[in-house]
Amino acid sequence: MAALRSVKEKQLYLQEIERARQDLRALIYSKNCAPIMLRLAWHDAGTYDAFTKTGGPNGSIRNEEELKHSANNGLKIAVDLCEEVKAKHPKITYADLYQLAGVVAIEVTGGPPIDLVPGRKDSKQSPPEGRLPDAKLGASHLRDTFYRMGLSDQDIVVLSGGHTLGRAHQERSGFDGPWTKEPAKFDNSYFVELLKGESEGLMKLPTDKALVEDPGFHHYVELYANDKDAFFRDYAVSHKKLSELGFSPP
Ligand code: HEM
Repeated sequence: MAALRSVKEKQLYLQEIERARQDLRALIYSKNCAPIMLRLAWHDAGTYDAFTKTGGPNGSIRNEEELKHSANNGLKIAVDLCEEVKAKHPKITYADLYQLAGVVAIEVTGGPPIDLVPGRKDSKQSPPEGRLPDAKLGASHLRDTFYRMGLSDQDIVVLSGGHTLGRAHQERSGFDGPWTKEPAKFDNSYFVELLKGESEGLMKLPTDKALVEDPGFHHYVELYANDKDAFFRDYAVSHKKLSELGFSPP
């Protein structure tokens, strides 16, 4: 009986996820907010520490304390936008909602479909500040940060392709400008621009430049600049991993 009830509950939760997916599509489309939604999903997940099994995609980024971390400047906008959807679907955890917003953001801007398995739990406990990568540093810092999450060199490069969307804002990060000429479109132009070097009106963070300069990263940049299908295929795999750090689907 208990098992049956839980199967039913699972079905209802999945239906609710599909309804929230529709609402997120409409919201992201009407507010043009795909980039910041993707950044929200990444910053909730990217605090994971595989050694202590803390942080990760658990909705804790909504805590005032964590939103104040300097890496999260500007993300309150995305948290507040998600509240509209949470109010309509209160059963859905913040942790699932933010990851759903991330995959919908990629889908509506023309990126690959990404499988989302729901069931993440929310946490009120925020990780200490400093777990997300610092854009002013280089390859060894990127490795320290992503290896701590349990991710690889290939994950680092392919996930950095998220910068195909959106831009940096002077008042949020101190950096200014988009990475690509069409920042509302998810494609492989981030890698094409990386190989081109300086381009008028476009920007590169020190951590972006490190991907071209480091021999362990460079060959992936070449691969994804030359083969959009390979980028989409590998991005979908790495993004799913990122969205499931520390999470064992129920
Ligand atoms: C924006 C750093 C990886 C997605 C930014 C900004 C910085 C940054 C400094 C500008 C924020 C602002 O001024 O608004 C980094 C560093 C990374 C990294 C150091 C290490 C590799 C990623 C990953 C993703 C991602 C893995 C997604 C998979 C985005 C998006 C934006 C952004 C979509 C644009 C946000 C907007 O337009 O509002 N990132 N990021 N980033 N990042 Fe990253």
